[in-house]
Amino acid sequence: MAVLEKEREFKFTVDDFNFLRKLSNEHSGIQVPDERFDMFYSRLSKRVRKLGLSNFKEYCQYLTHHSDNEFTEFINAITTNLTAFFRENHHFEYLRDVVIPEVILRNKASRQIKIWSAGCSTGEEPYSLAITLKENVPADWDVKILATDLDTNVLQTALEGVYTEDRISGISEERLKRWFMRGKSAQLGQVKVRTEIQQLIQFKQFNLLKEWPMKCHFDFIFCRNVLIYFDRETKTILANRYNEMLSSRSWLFIGHSESLNQLSSDFSLVACTTYRKNK
Ligand SMILES: C[S@@+](CC[C@H](N)C(=O)[O-])C[C@H]1O[C@@H](n2cnc3c(N)ncnc32)[C@H](O)[C@@H]1O
Repeated sequence: MAVLEKEREFKFTVDDFNFLRKLSNEHSGIQVPDERFDMFYSRLSKRVRKLGLSNFKEYCQYLTHHSDNEFTEFINAITTNLTAFFRENHHFEYLRDVVIPEVILRNKASRQIKIWSAGCSTGEEPYSLAITLKENVPADWDVKILATDLDTNVLQTALEGVYTEDRISGISEERLKRWFMRGKSAQLGQVKVRTEIQQLIQFKQFNLLKEWPMKCHFDFIFCRNVLIYFDRETKTILANRYNEMLSSRSWLFIGHSESLNQLSSDFSLVACTTYRKNK
């Protein structure tokens, strides 16, 4: 790997980069290509500065010796958390038109729906799910959404449910009035998700590569724009585990540039990046 030496505040060598990307891969499964060298520098130099260290070699040593405190900060710094309300909106339309009507029929005895948003980032995805469910499921049904992520910072934002107005620019005025509160005075320019939406969701910190403590089966799982960061073997393992976590003939939604093709024969493609269990 050839890296041009740039004028940098902190010395960052290829060895430092290799050490850090190996560490992140072992813990999170995230694959870090050579092109992320500058991204690693810009995100982690904030940590080097904050800790009062002189260069990245010292940061690598610090991580080795103070891993308990710094490891979470390190992982939070290197995750990619891009998300949006009603991102890839065709999935939410498919839920409204196909999935929810079918789940309502088949779960009519229990009147329960269980959903998992795996890799939920700052919460826009599970809140969009909660809004879609609120709008399309009878009010007396028990809807539960588990929303998980590895990154503790994004989960804190998700839990608070407060966003700047530019984050909600694509949402209709009707939906905004119904499901969000606009901030006044000190909170001007911000919106907060209404409590009745938040109450459907349980946020949890959770590494997809480790044990999955859930006992229940889900009616559908959203794991969108997460698999893309993993190697093929990890993707295959995750596809198999999602298959086990879904109830019979249930759905798995993945991101726009992802595919289960050649990863699992347990699912069939039923709509754009929307898979359904064969059994
Ligand atoms: C690009 S965001 C996707 C957010 C949302 N699903 C969407 O499509 O808008 C990917 C998320 O996956 C999370 N992630 C990455 N590796 C993970 C792991 N091993 N376990 C759990 N979450 C992980 C990241 O922290 C990040 O918030």
